[in-house]
This record gives sequence, structure tokens and C-alpha cells, in this order.
Amino acid sequence: MERLVYIKTFGCQMNEHDSERMLALLKGCGYRETQRYEEAHLILVNTCSVRAKPEQKAYSILGRFQRFKMERPNVILGVAGCVAQQEGERMLAKFPSLDFVFGPGKIHHLPEILREVERGQKGLCEVGLEDRPSTDVPLPRTRQLRAYVTIMEGCDNFCSYCIIPYVRGRERSCPSSEILAEIEALVERGTKEVILLGQNVNSYAEGDSDELTFPRLLAKINEIQGLERIRFTTSHPKDLTEELIGAFGRLNRLCEHIHLPFQAGSNVVLEKMGRGYTREEYLAEVRRLREVVPCISITADVMVGFPGEGGEDFAQTMGLLREVEFDGLFSFKYSARKGTKAARWKDDVPPEVKQRRLELLQELQRAITIKKNRELEGEVLEVLTEGSSRNSSQEMMGRARCNRIVNFPGGSKLAGELVRVKIEEGLPNSLRGELF
Ligand code: 5AD
Ligand code: SF4
Repeated sequence: MERLVYIKTFGCQMNEHDSERMLALLKGCGYRETQRYEEAHLILVNTCSVRAKPEQKAYSILGRFQRFKMERPNVILGVAGCVAQQEGERMLAKFPSLDFVFGPGKIHHLPEILREVERGQKGLCEVGLEDRPSTDVPLPRTRQLRAYVTIMEGCDNFCSYCIIPYVRGRERSCPSSEILAEIEALVERGTKEVILLGQNVNSYAEGDSDELTFPRLLAKINEIQGLERIRFTTSHPKDLTEELIGAFGRLNRLCEHIHLPFQAGSNVVLEKMGRGYTREEYLAEVRRLREVVPCISITADVMVGFPGEGGEDFAQTMGLLREVEFDGLFSFKYSARKGTKAARWKDDVPPEVKQRRLELLQELQRAITIKKNRELEGEVLEVLTEGSSRNSSQEMMGRARCNRIVNFPGGSKLAGELVRVKIEEGLPNSLRGELF
């Protein structure tokens, strides 16, 4: 009998990729994905602990699934991801009906864990980072037009607010030979775009003089026949080299988009965050990127309400937004994460001030995004068609090289194709156009 799995994912692209890997493994065990947890035999929650909000959401959904399991005791319930990694056994104590808890380093154990659960084992806990699979533990992959490829994991930066280094461990890079082999295999199975993943891809293989640097790795990937597009995320401004900036000008497959989180516009706050760059240095990098590729799309992450952030600091963040005019922005309210350096400081910006600042920031960014999207009206963009648009079956949806979503009238035979689309309308979250 076919079994169904429902998986809820919180957090970053790394986590989305982990969920994909779990699904691929589960397929091998006879599972098929469902979007309705009510019909699932297995429910997985892939959690994120980077901020309080996604963590709380994961806890609340787990509460709901725990109640659901009271009515259907045969449903298997498991927790994965960074909260699982951090909490381990404590998670089992909090949610006694959980069947298993496993960390990001144990994904390849999932079939084994399930076998044990099916044999009647309760409350399994597998956390730990030491044997996290990189590309050396090949996991089954289904055909993917756009595929994530992990090139490094962990983080050594220890920004004062950030839990990631504690949860995902120290930086570890995958050997370039294996990354290249994985991408070649993906391309053979139909992949046209790869998204290289790492918490800080700019420091790929740092300190390993026998390994390729990140820009050299990009150059090698750029040579793979049949691959159309390369993207990467996330970059740290302190490690953005001239060589990497130059790669955007040199490599035809590297998409003109960089996600370059700045976090705060005030030097005082940046210093307390331990980011390792100043506002002026960040702005200089933006200028250099635009010198090399004038149309480059720049997106970023920013936080409001960091301990000690005053009105003047926040004004500097708003000013930076106006000056750079980001193509897109992810903005968050600071939340203390236990175990980090900043958690020892007083979380002294009142919640209503954080909320107000976030709203001001988002209002400003909304106007900038619309303005930038409208500036694209009349331009012809290369679009990789992914499938039918969300709103209409007569329309197709794809992504431009700048990472914007583009909708356009067209048939489903265009799925997977690179097409040229003339942009007719710039909307708040997407573009609309016609085939050119
Ligand atoms: N509070 C709020 N936002 C945070 N981020 C990371 N840690 C915190 C925290 N403690 C944000 C940063 C990061 C993004 C993934 O999440 O902006 O780039
Ligand atoms: Fe969240 Fe960080 Fe874990 Fe990604 S690595 S899921 S952002 S805590």
C-alpha cells in the first residue's frame, strides 16, 4: 500500500533542500507526498531556530499534530531541523507522543529511523553534527529543473545575535570534485539551474590551499555543458572579494543577482553585531557590483530592534535602504536566541517600537520594489519557465535571471524552457509580460 507523507518546512533554503532530501529518501521507502496532513501516514515538521517566530510556529503546529495523533495513534510524527538539533531529548519531553527527533546531520538515517519506529520503538532521538552527509553520501534525487546543491555547511562567524554556528556547527566545505560531479549528474537528468547553498559561500574552502576558491569553483561550474544558470546564497559582505565581484562580469551562466545581508545601517549596531564591516564598506561593495554589472539585482536581510538600537541608528538603516534601493528585502524584528552573545544584553527596544520600525522599513521597501519592478516595463528578460502560474492555468510562471517571478500567457509545453518575455507590467511581487 502506498503511504503518504506530509512535511511542513520552516526556515531557510538549506532547510527546504533538507526537506527535498527527506522526500527523495522517503520515496525510496514507498512514500508519496501529500499537501493534506489529515490523510498522511507520516507527518514531519522541519524546524528552524534562527528567530523566535518560526520556532514558535513550529511548536504550535506540533501541538496541533500531537492532538491529531490522539485521534489517529497510528500516524507517525517526527521532528527534524534546527530546533530538533538544539532541543533533542527535551523535545521528546515536551511532546511525549513524538515518535522521533532528528537533526540536520542525520537525514540519511531517516529510512532506518522509520524502520525502528515501525518495529515499535518510541521516542527515538538522533542529533549530532559529526556525520552530516555532504555530497559524499549520495541521496536519491528526482528530476529537478532548479536544484539546490550544498557546497558548504556551518558557520564560523559568530555574529552576536546568531544561533546558526551553535546549531549547524563549524564551517565544512564539500570537495569541489564532488560538487562538480553532482551538478553534472543533475544536468544529465534535466536540471537547468543550480542554486549553490552555504551559510557563507564566500568563505568556501577557506584555509584549504589545495581546494578551488569559490570564484574558481563558479568558473568550473560555468563550463558544464547543458547547465543554463548558476545562483548562490548566502554571501557575507565581509568576505566579498574583488574576484567574486568580477565573476559576475565574466561568467555568462552566473545570474545577475546577489543576496547580501547587511543587517543594520548604523556602524554602532554593526559593531555590536560583530559583522566585520562598516556601512561605508557595504555601500562601496554595492557600488563595485553595480560598476561590474549595472543591472545586478541586490537583495538583503535586515533586522530592527537590536539591543541598544536608538532612533538615530534606525534612521541610518532607513537611509541605507533609500541609498541602495534593494530589489527585495527580508526584514525581521530582533529576538534573543539563548546561548548567543547578544542574549546576555538587555533586549531593550520595546516590542511596539520594534513593530513600528519594521512597518516603516517594509513600507519604504514596498515602494522601492514597485518602483524597480516598474522600471523593467518594456525590457525583454530571459525567463526559465517553471510551470503554470499560481493564479491562472492559461498562464505560465518562471523566473528571470534577476530572480523576479514573471507570469506570461503561454501553454504548458513551455515548462522547463528558457524563453524571452517582454515585460508589460511591474507589480508589487512579480512581473507580467508577453512572449517576445
Ligand atoms: N533575531 C532576528 N533576526 C535574526 N536573524 C538571524 N538571527 C536573528 C535574531 N536573533 C535574521 C538575519 C539573518 C536571517 C536569516 O535571519 O537577518 O540574515
Ligand atoms: Fe533556520 Fe539557520 Fe537552521 Fe536555516 S540553518 S533552518 S536559518 S536556524
